Amino acid sequence: MAQRNGALSRPPLAAAPRTRYHSRMDTPDSRAVFRTEGVTKVYGTGAVEVHALRGVDLLLYEAELVVLLGASGSGKSTLLNILGGLDTATAGRVFFRDHDLSRASDKKLTEFRRDHVGFVFQFYNLVPSLTARENVALVTEIARRPMRPEEALERVGLGHRLDHFPAELSGGEQQRVAIARAIAKRPDVLLCDEPTGALDSATGITVLEALVEVNRDLGTTTALITHNAEIRKIAHRVIYVADGRISHQEVNETRIEPSQVVW
Ligand SMILES: Nc1ncnc2c1ncn2[C@@H]1O[C@H](COP(=O)(O)OP(=O)(O)OP(=O)(O)O)[C@@H](O)[C@H]1O
Ligand SMILES: [Mg+2]
Repeated sequence: MAQRNGALSRPPLAAAPRTRYHSRMDTPDSRAVFRTEGVTKVYGTGAVEVHALRGVDLLLYEAELVVLLGASGSGKSTLLNILGGLDTATAGRVFFRDHDLSRASDKKLTEFRRDHVGFVFQFYNLVPSLTARENVALVTEIARRPMRPEEALERVGLGHRLDHFPAELSGGEQQRVAIARAIAKRPDVLLCDEPTGALDSATGITVLEALVEVNRDLGTTTALITHNAEIRKIAHRVIYVADGRISHQEVNETRIEPSQVVW
């Protein structure tokens, strides 16, 4: 594994041909970005125990875009938060490359999030008093090898909105600022929890286009939770979550463009 400035760096994109997802889907693989083994999550204790995850074995690969689908309460956000180091499993193992996140200290998890993970949530969490460029700069100022805020915003189609405040942007544009903020530090993985959940179809599509382009151009491994089953068609792979488990998975032989998604 290549090391640079102490940080893990991604192997070149060419090393991750997409056509190999099929054969590698169910076997431990050195190119897996994430690997979970028997992950469970129990919230609360005693009579109020909630079994949010009941044994999740999952592999996510380099440069892959996966969509997670499942009913409300099935455990999707819990799983994503555990992968991203925002939460910890009750039992089981979670590996990011060779790093065992399930045994990491809070400090290590914080470093992991800072250096490797970009998050995008349903609500954009932009600072209202800062422009688009300044919102992104908040992150680039503390990142190891960031892209310029302008570049990040250009990548999501907002090169012409650099100096606008959130209140001057549409919902879709605000979400794209949030994506720019998440990708500006060049994360290895982008974890998106219902990023289009608050958007209508036209603006939702612009957000999906930004995510697909980032995945395609930067090779950022992307996991995307949605309630819109049509969105699964833009993914390389679809993971169905039911009652705290992965019920089944599908590999898309052909993918559609976000513009073809029917809302
Ligand atoms: N912090 C928490 N404390 C207690 N229970 C929780 C907590 N977070 C989640 N849960 C419970 O865990 C289960 C899984 O929740 P989770 O948020 O992962 O579901 P989800 O699939 O993301 O649902 P949705 O589609 O509604 O966002 C639910 O029953 C939820 O009530
Ligand atoms: Mg959720």
